[in-house]
Amino acid sequence: MRTQVCIIGGGPSGLLLSQLLHLKGIDTIVLERQSRAYVLSRIRAGVLETGLCNLLRKAGAGERMDREGFIHGGTLLAAEGRKFRIDFDGLIGKSVMVYGQTEVTRDLYDARDRMDGKIIHDVDGTTIHSADTDAPYVTFVKDGTEQRVDCEWVAGCDGFHGVSRKTIPDSVLRQYEKVYPFGWLGILSETPPVDDELIYANHERGFALCSMRNANLSRYYIQAPVDDPLGKWSDDTFWDELRRRLPAEAADRMVTGPSIEKSIAPLRSFIAEPMRWGRLFLVGDAAHIVPPTGAKGLNLAASDVHYLSDALIRLYDENYSAGIETYSANALARVWKASRFSWWMTSTLHRFPTQTAFDQNMQEAELSYLENSRAAQTALAENYVGLPY
Ligand code: APR
Ligand code: PHB
Repeated sequence: MRTQVCIIGGGPSGLLLSQLLHLKGIDTIVLERQSRAYVLSRIRAGVLETGLCNLLRKAGAGERMDREGFIHGGTLLAAEGRKFRIDFDGLIGKSVMVYGQTEVTRDLYDARDRMDGKIIHDVDGTTIHSADTDAPYVTFVKDGTEQRVDCEWVAGCDGFHGVSRKTIPDSVLRQYEKVYPFGWLGILSETPPVDDELIYANHERGFALCSMRNANLSRYYIQAPVDDPLGKWSDDTFWDELRRRLPAEAADRMVTGPSIEKSIAPLRSFIAEPMRWGRLFLVGDAAHIVPPTGAKGLNLAASDVHYLSDALIRLYDENYSAGIETYSANALARVWKASRFSWWMTSTLHRFPTQTAFDQNMQEAELSYLENSRAAQTALAENYVGLPY
């Protein structure tokens, strides 16, 4: 097989990139290790920045989001039993879209299908060859047969555990990581959300987050030891702990119900540089991971796709190569800023096992400053809704 851009990974990054390039006449093949059903079974975050919403509309995959998504003009923070609101609309005139990432991925698959996009599922042994030459190619095994894709560029959209980042030589790759000493225990329940907007809570027992997918589907998280066995957390135990960490008025009105999904996820900050090696580009989680506190994972993948799709389109349309040359620097500039925000939100809202009384007072001072300063709230707002591309 031959294509212009071989995309490894059929998650949000790979699908969005493939769709944007195809719309400009650039041929792609997407290689995905899992089945489509498996990819669509993943439960992930659900807060979309304006930049991502605009890219989905540009890709012809935004119609259901605009119909079913919820525009949120602010978010709620809670600490020491009190609650205050960060008014995105009032402070900076912007908002976010609350719409499940699973639905984003589904809409992207549907858009690819409408354009007869070439996506090969259930591939094994994906290997990138000669990425540092002008003739890269990718091999993989499908139904026991090895196959080869000759291409002009390779986009590594294969997530944190993919092969793309590992293809870059250790002598070239720089990696930065911070692993947080806790995880997020999350559940999905067919219950009405506890509030109209998200609630991020800092409590002495640990962090809690109240989110949603629609008027009868709620998503809740509590900070928990990352090695806790799921069996330790019955639904009732989860609901009781969640309510302990929320202001009484929220806890009292919370509607509980059986969990339809329950999982514990680790939290880490991770960034790999550079995001390009020869004709291989890293995109999304293949290059960076953020703790979910700032809801930046999918949104950072989107800005990577924005930079790379623009660069490739201008290269093919105008023989303009500057975008390709500056892709890594442009993408990383935004990645580091979003990573800082995600680290700051995580540090401000979680209880750390080793934190001292001084650390605790710093958190309380940070939250008090945030509650009472327009400047501090504006800074949070502009980072949360998304810094410009
Ligand atoms: N070969 C082919 N496909 C692979 C390989 C491989 N060797 N390794 C991983 N993949 C696939 C995975 O099965 C997954 O579907 O690559 C895809 C990567 O998708 P994500 O992990 O979702 O990463 P990305 O598309 O960058 O999305 C970033 O979406 O999924 C969330 O947490 C993620 O919020 C982040 C955002
Ligand atoms: C979610 O709805 O899953 C969600 C929302 C906001 C976050 C993280 C996760 O910061």
